[in-house]
Amino acid sequence: MNILIVGSGGREHALAWKLRQSTSVGKIYCAPGNAGMESVGTTVPLKATDLEGLVRFAQDHAVDLTVVGPEQPLVMGIADMFHDHKLAVFGPTAAAARLEGSKVFAKDFLYRHGIPTARFGSFDAASAREAEAFIDGLSVPLVVKADGLAAGKGVVICQTKAEARIAFREMIEARVLGAAGDKVVIEEFLAGEEASVFAICDGERFVTLPCAQDHKRILDGDRGKNTGGMGAYAPAPVMTPDLLHRVEREIIHPTLEGMKNEGAPYRGCLYAGLMVTEDGPKVLEYNCRFGDPETQVVIPLIDGDLAVLLSASASGSLEGLTPAFHEASAVCVVMASRGYPDAYESGKIIRGLDSAEVEKGEIVFHAGTRREGDTIITAGGRVLGVTVVGYEHELEATIDAAYRLVHRIAFDGAYYRSDIGKKALKHLRNRNS
Ligand code: AMP
Ligand code: GLY
Repeated sequence: MNILIVGSGGREHALAWKLRQSTSVGKIYCAPGNAGMESVGTTVPLKATDLEGLVRFAQDHAVDLTVVGPEQPLVMGIADMFHDHKLAVFGPTAAAARLEGSKVFAKDFLYRHGIPTARFGSFDAASAREAEAFIDGLSVPLVVKADGLAAGKGVVICQTKAEARIAFREMIEARVLGAAGDKVVIEEFLAGEEASVFAICDGERFVTLPCAQDHKRILDGDRGKNTGGMGAYAPAPVMTPDLLHRVEREIIHPTLEGMKNEGAPYRGCLYAGLMVTEDGPKVLEYNCRFGDPETQVVIPLIDGDLAVLLSASASGSLEGLTPAFHEASAVCVVMASRGYPDAYESGKIIRGLDSAEVEKGEIVFHAGTRREGDTIITAGGRVLGVTVVGYEHELEATIDAAYRLVHRIAFDGAYYRSDIGKKALKHLRNRNS
C-alpha cells in the first residue's frame, strides 16, 4: 500500500521510519516532510493545512492510506474531507478531534461521562463575574486554559489568585490568544507525575501502546518555559501494568463509548495526557493525534507492521489485532535551536548526523531541518530527536547511549536538556530496593 504522511516534525519522521519497515508498504510520501524524511520517502511541497491539495495528491498518486501527524488539519476536518472522497485516513473526524480542539468540549465531555479529571469551570466574556467567584472558591495553585488550539501557549499555571485573574482577563478581554481564548477553562491544579498514553482506536475498540513520559519544560528539573517537548522515554515505569488497566477501564474505554454514543466515534490515535495522582490517574488533556516527541520512543517499541495497525484503525477493523512490543527501552533527547521556545536561530550547519549506528538502535529523527546542497541545516525550534532503542539495555544504559549520540552531533547554538529519563530511574530504584 502507498502511504501519505502529513506533517514535518520528528513525530512524522518516526512514523515514516517505522512504516518504511512494513513489508505491506510501497511508496511513502511526506507532505511537507523534512530533510530526514527524504531518506525514507518522497517529500511533497504541500502544507499540512492544504486540505484540498492533499486530497488531490492522494487521488493522483494512488495513496491507499493517509496518516495525519499534527492536530491542526484534523481539527480543520481533513479526515471528513478524505472520507467524502472515499479515501482512507488515519485520524479522527473534526467532531471527534474536538477532544483536543476545544478544552471546554473535552472537560464537559469528561464530566458528562464521569471520567476522572481536575475539578473545573468554563467561562466566557459574559460570565467573567462568575469566573472571578470561581477563582475565589478554589485553592492555589490553579490552572487557566484557553479553549482553543494555542500552540502550547494556552495553559497558565497560577501560584496566586491574582495571577489567575490576570491570566483570565488577558485571554478574555485583551484576547492575547485571539479566538482560542474566547472561552476559558479554570481548574484545580493536580499534583503528581505526568504520563502519556496512546490508544489506537477504531471507533469502538482500542489497543494501547507502551506509556511514555515527555519533558515539557525547557530547563533541567522541569523548570522554565513550556515547550513542545524536550525529550521522552518509554516505557515509563510510573505506569505500572495495574495502573494501565485502570486507565483503560476508567478513561479510554468510557471515552470511546461516550464518543460513539454522542455520534462522533473516535478513530485514530487518542492521546491521553494524564496526571498520576494519589487518587489514581486523571486526564489533564486529550490530544487527537500522536505526541511529539513521545512517538519517537513509542513507535520503535512496536514489534510488527505499523501499517496494518493504522489501516485497521482507519477502517474500523481492529478486532483481533494485538500488537507485540519489543522488550526494550527507548530514549529521545531533543536538540533545539538557541532561543527556543521563543524566537530562535536557524540556518546552522548540522554535523555528525552520519555517526548514528543503526545496528546499535541509534536513530536521529529530524524535526526542524532542511537540505541545502550537500549539507543539512537547522530550520526550526526543535531540530532533532536523537533517539536510542536499547534492545538489550535497561533504561539507564539507554539514557547514557542517547547522550553519547547527542555528543557526536553538533550545530551552533544547539541546546538540549541533560536530565531526560531521570525521573524513571527513581521509580526503578524504588522498585528494586
Ligand atoms: P495541557 O495542554 O492541558 O496538557 O497543559 C499543558 C501542561 O500544563 C500539562 O502537560 C501539565 O504539565 C500542565 N497542566 C495542565 N493542567 C494541569 C492541572 N490541572 N494540574 C497540573 N498541571 C497541569
Ligand atoms: N509532547 C506533547 C504533545 O505532543 O502535545
